[in-house]
Amino acid sequence: MYASFCSIGAYAPKKVLSNSDLEQMVDTTDEWITKRTGIKERRIAADSELTSDMGVEAAKIAIERSGLDKSEIDLVICATISPDYFNMPSTATIIASKLGLGTIMSFDISAACTGFVYALSVAKAFIESGMKRSVLIVGAEKLSSIIDYTDRGTCILFGDGAGAAIIRATDDKSRAIIDVHTGSDGEYADLLMTPNGGSGSIHDDGSKTFIKMRGNETFKVAVRTLTNDVVDILRENALSSDEIDHFIPHQANYRIIKAVGDALGLRDDQVVLTVHKYGNTSSSSIPMAINDIYESGRLKSGDLMLLDAFGGGLTWGSALVPFAPDGD
Ligand code: UT7
Repeated sequence: MYASFCSIGAYAPKKVLSNSDLEQMVDTTDEWITKRTGIKERRIAADSELTSDMGVEAAKIAIERSGLDKSEIDLVICATISPDYFNMPSTATIIASKLGLGTIMSFDISAACTGFVYALSVAKAFIESGMKRSVLIVGAEKLSSIIDYTDRGTCILFGDGAGAAIIRATDDKSRAIIDVHTGSDGEYADLLMTPNGGSGSIHDDGSKTFIKMRGNETFKVAVRTLTNDVVDILRENALSSDEIDHFIPHQANYRIIKAVGDALGLRDDQVVLTVHKYGNTSSSSIPMAINDIYESGRLKSGDLMLLDAFGGGLTWGSALVPFAPDGD
């Protein structure tokens, strides 16, 4: 039994936070943000809009496009670092309930910006082992709930949104996800973290937990790791970068994406970019980007996608995924 990537959906909240809005909030400029990151604007969820609500909207679209009856879904995995509730219940469980999926298995994955690729890897393993047949994977983030809007090093980068996909069992190898690579290295844990609130808190005074990042060091490790991971997965699967229809990297910073694309010799038309309009949406960024090329008509049945993610942990992952929208 193989696992195929059969549908995609995404949701972006309505409220836009532009670079000129940020100029009013911190000491920054549209010119600096555009030049250093490529970001022009990002979306911000309404106060009443939870991570699970955005995940549900993305999932509804992915389910409808898959042609599945929702009763066929037998597992929900949600990748998030901004869950509805820290610790419990999981956001996946809330999403399953809001979608009326019944009492199926559901759980969250914490792998920061690599979360969607980790979820894909776990869905693939469940399907190939025969334990599950139709898995809903969701990347959903309300990062605005963990951003310090006085810290110009982070608040200019991150935004809210969600993406979702249906991964299904198939016996047709030509439609199957070819490979997923995943890795992590906790030696770099302090580059990108939310230091408050957990059992590792040093000064747990009940204050809000915010993302803290050593941006420049993270940048350098990101370029190296994203590039090496793609070189490895292509080599191990005897593929060249020419054979990739869509390179879909984590949308953290245009300069990172450009450096990785150039190192791999990718043409601009192979590289998918949404960072200018959504910023960095962590685990949602890759599925939101896949949805973007689907809705614009660029993503066709049989196209080969190369996903490449990197994030806090540090974690990283890549995947070779044919788009297989027609079901079994
Ligand atoms: O999603 C997971 C992984 N995350 C990432 O991959 C993010 C990786 N990092 C980055 O994207 C970049 O490092 C940033 C965009 C965060 C920063 O860009 P940079 O080119 O690495 O800048 P820097 O941190 O080296 O700072 C350069 C200067 C500093 O001023 P001085 O010391 O040269 O006077 C900063 O204080 O830019 C200053 N600066 C800013 N200036 C205007 C930092 N943030 C801002 C800002 N507006 N928002």
